[in-house]
Amino acid sequence: MNPPKHIAIIMDGNGRWANARKHNRVYGHIRGAKVAYNIIKHCAQSGIKNLTLFAFSTENWQRPKNEVSLLMSLLIKHLKKEMKTLVDNNIKFNTIGDVSELPPEVQELITDTKRNTQQLDGLNLTFALNYGGQQDILHAFKKIIALKEEGKISGDDINQELISKYLQSAFLPNPDLIIRTSNEKRLSNFFLWQSAYSEFYFTEKCWPDFSTNDFDLAIAEYLGRNRRFGKVPSTPTRESNNLYG
Ligand code: FPP
Repeated sequence: MNPPKHIAIIMDGNGRWANARKHNRVYGHIRGAKVAYNIIKHCAQSGIKNLTLFAFSTENWQRPKNEVSLLMSLLIKHLKKEMKTLVDNNIKFNTIGDVSELPPEVQELITDTKRNTQQLDGLNLTFALNYGGQQDILHAFKKIIALKEEGKISGDDINQELISKYLQSAFLPNPDLIIRTSNEKRLSNFFLWQSAYSEFYFTEKCWPDFSTNDFDLAIAEYLGRNRRFGKVPSTPTRESNNLYG
């Protein structure tokens, strides 16, 4: 098995981690941001090409106001503070999701960070911010319908490839591996289309406890898996009886 080209992480369990330690939920996010920093640096140094972090979903606006503003402040603080870290580690910063709904200061920093790192060719780091998989697919459909109405494409041109091309993640390969922490086993509106053949790795650890060693364990497990993409394996094994790949 080749190393994963794209790893996506649902960083879950910050609130529960903090509450279990008699802290406010926001303390979990503060610690979680430090873990995100460690994992990003570790990925850059391990030669992984693409890392996507689900940092704020379209549904996260429904959280208490103080929690949403803390998450926005954390983004501001870390984008300001780590601009040099990104450059020094050859990390290119991208986002997916509708950033136009984020506070103006966050938007400005995102624009600056993208501009300052766009020429870098090490790790492609993508933050999913105000991202929802259903919204992503809907957005792609609207664009495709507009193209059809303008006569630029015909109905026959609409296929999986075209849909992928109009998703916000079009600049990324589909995730090979999706990691979710905190023992929750669902996608929560992340990469719905893109995860068709992703491998999933779930761990009981909450995100603030997730270490670079845990990350390496996830990759090691991935490397031992047999990805068939619905086909039969090239070397026949007993598993070839499995119909679904
Ligand atoms: C899920 O934990 C986490 C989030 C919704 C936000 C993820 C954000 C961070 C890790 C901070 C990132 C900040 C930067 C700058 C990278 P949860 O709150 O849903 O936990 P719970 O399920 O225990 O409530």
